[in-house]
Amino acid sequence: MSRDVAGDPRLALLHARRTVSRLGPPGPDAAELAAMLDAADAAPDHGRLHPWRLTVLDGPTRDALSDAYAAAAAARGEDAEAVARARSKPLRGPVVVAAVARTVPHPRVPAWEQLAAAACAVQNLCLAATALGYGSAWRTGTAVEDPGVRAVLDLDPDDRLIGFVHLGTPTA
Ligand SMILES: Cc1cc2nc3c(=O)[nH]c(=O)nc-3n(C[C@H](O)[C@H](O)[C@H](O)COP(=O)(O)O)c2cc1C
Repeated sequence: MSRDVAGDPRLALLHARRTVSRLGPPGPDAAELAAMLDAADAAPDHGRLHPWRLTVLDGPTRDALSDAYAAAAAARGEDAEAVARARSKPLRGPVVVAAVARTVPHPRVPAWEQLAAAACAVQNLCLAATALGYGSAWRTGTAVEDPGVRAVLDLDPDDRLIGFVHLGTPTA
């Protein structure tokens, strides 16, 4: 007979993770961020290729991203309100982590598995945020393909920007 574990409190953390759009201070401090990034590194990783980079963005980088988002929106012909909204996106939440995947040719681990491992690392990061009492939001959008955004992050052509993880305290 199988155990009735549907409401098992040990699963509560997994059920508690939700995308939190409105995030304010405080964000995770340096020690908490280090612990969260450590948890990300516990992701399943076929071949132990570690095909991801998680980078906590500093203020100047977030400001530069903000400019790049606005420039991309303006280049798409969006109106002033939409450009202002685009400009605000990289500034949302006290902490933003850029998630980059880079796959390599491998005889046993195809690129899709490497991308999956990188996504698992991002999920672990989000779960670690939940575990420590923070909200998280994994965001992509057209910005992740934008050359201006990629230039701010100094990405190589082989790098795939798989998103930004916004972290902070839920405000709503
Ligand atoms: C690869 C990926 C990209 C995402 N990009 C966005 C995004 O650009 N904007 C957004 O609001 N949510 C984004 N999300 C979050 C999902 O929209 C969200 O998980 C979904 O709405 C379900 O909500 P929940 O996380 O609270 O269960 C993304 C999720 C993943 C896995």
